[in-house]
Amino acid sequence: MSIKYDKSYLRGYVGENDLKKIFPKIKKAHDDLENKTGLGNDYVGWTDLPSRIEDKFLDSLVNLGKEVRSHSDFLISIGIGGSYLGIRATIKFLRNSELIPVDYAGHNMSVDGLYELLENVKNKRITICVISKSGTTTEPAIAFRIIKKVMEEKYSKEELRQRIICVTDEKKGALRKIADECGFKSFVIPDDVGGRFSVLTPVGLVPLAIAGVDIKALVNGARDGQKEYSSIDLDKNIAYQYAGVRYLLYKKKKLIEVLASFYDNVFYVAEWWKQLYGESEAKEGKGIFPSSLIMSTDLHSMGQLMQDGVRNVFETFIAIEKPEHSLIIPSEKDDLDKFNIVAGRDLDYVNKQAYKATAAAHYEGGVPNSTISLDKADSYHLGKLYYFFERAVAVSGYLLGVNPFNQPGVEAYKKKMFALLGKKD
Ligand code: PA5
Repeated sequence: MSIKYDKSYLRGYVGENDLKKIFPKIKKAHDDLENKTGLGNDYVGWTDLPSRIEDKFLDSLVNLGKEVRSHSDFLISIGIGGSYLGIRATIKFLRNSELIPVDYAGHNMSVDGLYELLENVKNKRITICVISKSGTTTEPAIAFRIIKKVMEEKYSKEELRQRIICVTDEKKGALRKIADECGFKSFVIPDDVGGRFSVLTPVGLVPLAIAGVDIKALVNGARDGQKEYSSIDLDKNIAYQYAGVRYLLYKKKKLIEVLASFYDNVFYVAEWWKQLYGESEAKEGKGIFPSSLIMSTDLHSMGQLMQDGVRNVFETFIAIEKPEHSLIIPSEKDDLDKFNIVAGRDLDYVNKQAYKATAAAHYEGGVPNSTISLDKADSYHLGKLYYFFERAVAVSGYLLGVNPFNQPGVEAYKKKMFALLGKKD
């Protein structure tokens, strides 16, 4: 039940002594987080969130999930950014552990995508979960309008109250008003947790419980993460080591981080991570550009760049020690492709050799890399990994001297879009 961090291929770039030298800075960031004395300290409610989640609240969500699944066979999760990515990341990472199919709306305004979704659910019994902290974000607000209209044509007012669930602010915003006026079931997003840190609030927990994900294991993983990654013992706290490594590499002009995995279920975890790291660090002209690759697929498209391009990149692998299934490679009489050498072996054995070879080759090609390994791809380890990344980015943002909890740059396109649309506020 553990997560490990291997720094072997940072040799020559970042050593244990380098980390020790910046320990006072890490300690300062840690103290600022713990004592709420750092930039953006109104938004550090996520730091002790896992331990504050009550078991009886989780039980009530598990029961809500059972109730919804008794009258629905499809869930649509409406939201964008922090109100979208953690849900999709969790469901994709856990593969088919959801008990009803889930699709997503409100994270873009691509008309054919939403049209296709609506066609697909035409004859299905659906429930929707609308998630928006501000309650006013354009993309989910418009998707909600369209989907609600379709549902109003199909279901009675009473049925709609069973099938529309809102997750939003306690008092503010249009979605709060709609939920209260129409009597939709609603859940509150705490004020002190920003969007990209909200996967373990009702933002993530409500739709995930409806989908049938083991939310108790997810939260238990995060609780253990909270214990391990809030420790100031740098030798033991791998989240702080990761934060320190990133900072030191950034100082060496490694300006792009690639989160890479040989496990395809990590795809949306990487998308969640990109928002968390991009929005938290990249401001005031500072920050590492977060990027991601899924191997071997991307080795055959981006492998050239990783091996031989501009040397401003470092790589962080996410490895899964024990995949859930096994597939044994068969032997073939003629051995035309000469792969009888691995006949009788599990496919994951070959995948792991591909990872080892890639990490070594990229290191030799000038890409320092490290690996975060999870024992298993289950809810527990994912909850722990979420906390690991949250804690690390907060420290890493403080090391850079920025406020890791705001996102002023996101407003620029909204202002211009509202001007084009003629929207007043
Ligand atoms: O990190 C953030 O705060 C943003 O990316 C939000 O998550 C995103 O804009 C969605 O906002 P809201 O939940 O208010 O609709």
